[in-house]
Amino acid sequence: MNSLFKSSYRAFTNIALIKYWGKRHEDLFLPLTSSLSLTLDAFYTDTTVEFKPNAKADVFILDGVQQGVELTQKVSQFVDLFRETAGMNMPVTVTSINHVPTAAGLASSASAFAALASACNGALGLGLDNRALSIYARQGSGSATRSLFGGFVVWHKGEGEDSQSSYAEAIDDAEWDIGMLVVIINQQQKKISSRVGMAHTRDTSPFYAMWPSEVEKDLAAIIPAIEAHDFETVGEIAEHNAMKMHASILASNPSFTYFEPDSLVAMAIVKELREQGIACYVTMDAGPNVKVIGRLSEMDQIIARFKHDFKADQLIVAKPGSAPIELKA
Ligand code: ADP
Ligand code: DP6
Ligand code: CO
Repeated sequence: MNSLFKSSYRAFTNIALIKYWGKRHEDLFLPLTSSLSLTLDAFYTDTTVEFKPNAKADVFILDGVQQGVELTQKVSQFVDLFRETAGMNMPVTVTSINHVPTAAGLASSASAFAALASACNGALGLGLDNRALSIYARQGSGSATRSLFGGFVVWHKGEGEDSQSSYAEAIDDAEWDIGMLVVIINQQQKKISSRVGMAHTRDTSPFYAMWPSEVEKDLAAIIPAIEAHDFETVGEIAEHNAMKMHASILASNPSFTYFEPDSLVAMAIVKELREQGIACYVTMDAGPNVKVIGRLSEMDQIIARFKHDFKADQLIVAKPGSAPIELKA
């Protein structure tokens, strides 16, 4: 609903094919590398923002539960970016529902801050475009930068400490034969957040020194492959990029990993399917859940094999998703 100072938006999560893993500026959320993702239709956040001139304080309600000081403060600080732009200081009530497990490596922070940025823009009537909003969303969570667009999206790392130079851009609508099978292995909240995990890897992993140049090479190779709709090259580059990120994580000190035993089971199934002539590839984020990049036309065969080892409700097919959409009452 969009009455005075109130607006609701749905934003979709995205899964990186070329990962963002490391910041060069913590407060501005400026990344050490550019990254590239696919927005997914199956996972999203619905957020309503209402500015209330007579309220005493900001309120944040997530999945029907009023949140405590820490999470509310995170949301307040993010909304401050918009309050500063609008030159006002009204308290806000943010009500959000995640149609994605929270903090489980399925990119809830991406859909969350893209939805919140879009709804703040709507509620304050700022009229910012999605590129400008991606710069705001970035300052809530890096991966949220890319959820302001649908299909395949690049997040440019930008220059130096120039916040305005680090934004997202759509490069392909992904309206071809590509999607993801998300294998839910564990929906629990992770012990090591993306934020903490990436800083620890950057600071302690000897392999991290290689990461920025690997990302640059992978990005240069995957963009033309996406433009050519070359599914196999896209999948090969994405899988290798994810494994390089996880290898670098494993080599941090003290070491840690987001893999769980069933993540390895899922990876073995993907290899087996490939040996049988079904091209599909794995990517994983800061959590144990596995995303299988596959042709939508072959998803039924991929799911049939996964059902030998996983329950049907652990297997969710996602097609390419869109930019955020306004929710009207
Ligand atoms: P994920 O893998 O789900 O992205 P992160 O650790 O990156 O995990 O982000 C999870 C954090 O994002 C939560 O702890 C919370 O601070 C924030 N978050 C998640 N959902 C929402 C929401 N709907 N609105 C505001 N913030 C949210
Ligand atoms: C592995 O965007 O969740 O999913 O910027 O600290 O909020 P913050 O981290 P976040 O990190 C995402 C890491 C990743 C890779 C990716 O999405 O590119
Ligand atoms: Co996240």
